[in-house]
Amino acid sequence: MPGASSLAANRLHVAMEKEPRLKTQGEQHSLVALILAAGRGTRMKSRKVKVLHELDGRPLIDHVCRTAQLLDPKRIYVVVGYQAPEVEATVRRLLPDKLASFVTQAQQRGTGDAIMAARDALNNSDSTLLVLSGDVPLIQAETLSSFVDHHRSSGAVCSILSVKLENPTGYGRIVRNELDRFAKIVEQKDASADEKQIREINSGFYCFDPAKLFSALERVQPVNEQGEYYLTDVPGILLSEGHTIELFLHNDARELSGINTRAELAEFENLIRRRTIRTLMLEGVTFIDPSHAYVSAKAQIGRDCVIYPDVLIEGGTVLGEGCLIRSGTRIANSRIGSNVVIKDHCVIVDSDILANCSVGPFAHLRMNARLEEDSAVGNFVEVKKSRLGRGSKAMHLTYLGDAMIGENTNIGAGTVTCNFDGKSKHETVIEDNVRIGSDTMLVAPVKVGSGSVTGAGSVVTKVVPPDSLVAGVPAVVKKRLK
Ligand code: UD1
Ligand code: CA
Repeated sequence: MPGASSLAANRLHVAMEKEPRLKTQGEQHSLVALILAAGRGTRMKSRKVKVLHELDGRPLIDHVCRTAQLLDPKRIYVVVGYQAPEVEATVRRLLPDKLASFVTQAQQRGTGDAIMAARDALNNSDSTLLVLSGDVPLIQAETLSSFVDHHRSSGAVCSILSVKLENPTGYGRIVRNELDRFAKIVEQKDASADEKQIREINSGFYCFDPAKLFSALERVQPVNEQGEYYLTDVPGILLSEGHTIELFLHNDARELSGINTRAELAEFENLIRRRTIRTLMLEGVTFIDPSHAYVSAKAQIGRDCVIYPDVLIEGGTVLGEGCLIRSGTRIANSRIGSNVVIKDHCVIVDSDILANCSVGPFAHLRMNARLEEDSAVGNFVEVKKSRLGRGSKAMHLTYLGDAMIGENTNIGAGTVTCNFDGKSKHETVIEDNVRIGSDTMLVAPVKVGSGSVTGAGSVVTKVVPPDSLVAGVPAVVKKRLK
């Protein structure tokens, strides 16, 4: 990433949801946000549009939309073009309908042309228009809010958020005049050797007076190296018409850096991960090797948890206190209680594990699997859409699908809930204090009453009454236990 400076660990925390909404000053003018997201992102060399590539487990456009939302704008317009339906669907999942609007840029002929697509919607607006780039994900709401305030109090018709980079290659450069005020923006590909030396760059965030913006846009011509309509020509045009243009120089290079390549995407990912893990360590979580753990910025991990190398904790996963998570485990969108031990190489997705449970090694929990307190699942056990009651155990080579299992029940090695008859899924109910013998097949729908026992190798096709011993193929009652 060009010229990224070092920054304090918590400078750019990304868990935006936890922040209060920021109101900008000058409430007499409302704010409208416009996010540019129509470009393909050629430099990603991908079939997928750039703004849908993921950072910290969420599409780039997600990061920018959530930040824009924190500014409490009247509306957020998103300019879509390349893979428009996919981008639109992603944004619709994030923003309420009354907030999000979409404008289509049919052909991607440059950032100026992209804005032009929103002319009908915005030309007559008396709001301040804040333009954001869909590919600059670390931008912070506080920065934008100060930027908007500055724009409003300066009386400028256009303000540009700029930053100085150690390596400005690839960006549009800010050319200043002898009074150190804005003169023009020149794109990398059009810059002279001298201009390429300029380290102050255009971050791609602007505030505009909409009417002035659209009248200047009409004068933009695609006379440049790329044959595109550049939004970056607009400030120069407005200046030549005698309007005031403001530069708002920010000091955090990383926050304003855009993602254009997969290498930059990986650098951002790494940065966010390091920051998240550092914060967690300061809050009392042990990482055996912080450089080999992957924790989403949205996840919460309680004190005295110990995370071994090569663990992935994704999405909004919550871990209680004192958990031990061994190597090679992936936990996504799940809730784990306190003092849970997850042994090596488990996959836990969309599930709940209550306090004092033990899982794995090599266990797979998914689709609302739920382990009640003090229960245990051992090696090569898959639990899908099932609940294992308090103190119950399934320790070896077992499939529990669509099963409701009571308390203090033991599921023997090799047990399978045969939940699928080729057409539909059926439920298995196993009540409290049951012992399911090794290699039992439970052909659902079926129920095993409390206190019952199944013999090894039973194929249970009928309801087992409470306190009975069943065995055989198909299993029949051999003995009443009470
Ligand atoms: C742009 C700026 C450059 C600035 C840089 C900051 C222009 C001409 N250049 O360059 O001065 O330093 O951002 O990151 O504006 N897009 C569309 N439609 C298009 C083209 C692009 O919606 O026809 C969108 C893209 O999806 C992206 C954003 O505009 O979200 C920026 O486009 P990109 O091609 O990445 O511009 P840069 O070359 O980075
Ligand atoms: Ca860019």
